[in-house]
Amino acid sequence: MKRGLGVCYYPEHWDKSLWLGDAISMAELGISWVRINEFAWSQLEPRPDELRFEWLDEIIEILGNQKLKVVLGTPTATPPRWMITKYPDMLLCDEYGHRKNHGSRRHYCFSHPGYAEECDRIVELLARRYGKNKVVGAWQTDNEYGCHNTTLSYSKSAKLEFQRWLRDIFKSQSGDSDGDIKALNEAWGNIFWSMEYGSFSEIELPNKTVTNPNPSHVMAFRKFSSDQVKKFNKRQVDIIKKFSNYPITHNFMGRITDFDHFKVGYDLDFASWDSYPLGFSEDRVEADELHKKKYSRQGDPDFQAFHHDLYRSVGKGRFWVMEQQPGPVNWAPYNPKPLDGMLELWTWEAFAHGAEVVSYFRWRQAPFGQEQLHSGLHLPDGSKTKAYYQVKNINEKLREKRSIDSYPASVAIIFDYGADAAWNIEPHGENLSYFNLVFDYYKVLRKLGQSIDILSVDHKEFSQYKIIFAPGLVFMRKSLKENLAAHKGMVFVGPRTATRDENHKVTYPLPPNLPGFESKVVLTESFRSDSPIELEKGGYFCNYKEELEGRAEIVERTVLGDAAILKGGNFTYLAGWMNEVALKRIFKEALRLNNLEFCELPSGVRMRKGSSDSFWFNYSENEREVNGIKLPGCSVFSACYKKTE
Ligand code: GAL
Repeated sequence: MKRGLGVCYYPEHWDKSLWLGDAISMAELGISWVRINEFAWSQLEPRPDELRFEWLDEIIEILGNQKLKVVLGTPTATPPRWMITKYPDMLLCDEYGHRKNHGSRRHYCFSHPGYAEECDRIVELLARRYGKNKVVGAWQTDNEYGCHNTTLSYSKSAKLEFQRWLRDIFKSQSGDSDGDIKALNEAWGNIFWSMEYGSFSEIELPNKTVTNPNPSHVMAFRKFSSDQVKKFNKRQVDIIKKFSNYPITHNFMGRITDFDHFKVGYDLDFASWDSYPLGFSEDRVEADELHKKKYSRQGDPDFQAFHHDLYRSVGKGRFWVMEQQPGPVNWAPYNPKPLDGMLELWTWEAFAHGAEVVSYFRWRQAPFGQEQLHSGLHLPDGSKTKAYYQVKNINEKLREKRSIDSYPASVAIIFDYGADAAWNIEPHGENLSYFNLVFDYYKVLRKLGQSIDILSVDHKEFSQYKIIFAPGLVFMRKSLKENLAAHKGMVFVGPRTATRDENHKVTYPLPPNLPGFESKVVLTESFRSDSPIELEKGGYFCNYKEELEGRAEIVERTVLGDAAILKGGNFTYLAGWMNEVALKRIFKEALRLNNLEFCELPSGVRMRKGSSDSFWFNYSENEREVNGIKLPGCSVFSACYKKTE
């Protein structure tokens, strides 16, 4: 497959006299895609109904004349100031009920009907005008749903929509338009603490309660909020599709889990995401200080790859990196420059994981506004930065013809946004995060040289996989349980498997209740991570563990004699959160049993298999050796890649 490079460009920030030169220079650099317009609403419509699209026509034409293709963004992440005068109540409200102000971005509430109509209007204007424009080649809806903690809104509109959403779920059998409130009371267990409701209009949002609200209530609100994102996005997709056949994407983010990306992805033609390895390593990767220090100028060796694999799946096989960090960013606790070689490594790693395009953020550093300290491919005065030359180098290598084919993975991890919400709502202990549990499995598999697919809980075709890892799935539909039970390969489950129903209540028969697995969980405990519980064959439970009773075969115990790993039917149940030593030992054994090749990669080295060629990435600063090949610090190696140098 052909891979391409892109760049994020803000023509509205620059004098028109620069546009032609910029376009020529982009083409010379080897850029083929330019993303524009995602924040330009106030320039398109400075006052209500005063439209100014001529500048956009002009820049699209200029870019097209240089044979560049445009990804056209819808500007709905930045409602202009006049919109707030028109709809003061469209602003997002935080959990304390405080309205956010205009003055940055993403200040809208997904549930406000007036704002939704304004979005329909601007999206339709754009789609009608550019839907068949030959320069435009793709659309981006909005920008980074969920960024700056904006998925959950506790506004009045959100409350009304939430009540409507609930009425729809708990429809009355007798046709009562107010829905079946008894059914809701029962589904949520509202008898507890006298929380029963008399009607849907009494239901508040789950904020500002004295102590924690009912987890079922919170779970419903999380699902509702996730559905609102999907609905908001789908409205734009449906409008664009009426006027344009160009593919539509949205740029997702790193470790944002408060809406179901798979569900939004179903409505898109491909997924994309914004990769900021150094920023992420400081502000969202949870690791000890030593690890953070070691990789502070390279980024965590697994975090990018995890998201490439995740978004490949969200995009049904197709994804881009829409924004790639080029140098220091402005928003993390520390913002160092990457080590030489890293921009190249990040780019090739994305390609090796299937990215069709890697697009750099941004063409020229901003001379005003909130991101003046964020680097780009140029300084504000137009001089070229190091990143520019690195991209030039990447393009030269890319142009030497070579294909990067993906290889069908034999191992898969199931990832579920609902499970992440459930762990969040009822963590039962410090640091018990579903994302981190799944990420621990991913890291161990990568260190063993595996290429991994990440699947949603709706996935049905598992035959390609010899081993499936499904840790921590708090809720499991019957069909998923049955599919996994019938799967011909191994399936790892636990802890917390199928412990709650779709309303976040305890399931009966007691969990995990999987076909062929005849033990049940009789106790769950979290404990201090400085007091781990050792396993008899090495490694330990770090902070969380379960006790199970029943007829499933116990294949390993803790040193205290409790079951640690159990087998029943097709399932291998890990009864807690295990550390890396334990996971490595267990996964190696599983890979061996399934005749899957594995190796222990040197520290900081990762690999991704291709059908004709594999890639090795050395995230370490120091030279490493793999299969007799010396990898300099911060470098990429693949046979065909090297051959052409
Ligand atoms: C992204 C965002 C961009 C820009 C960038 C800076 O999250 O989509 O608009 O703000 O971060 O790193």
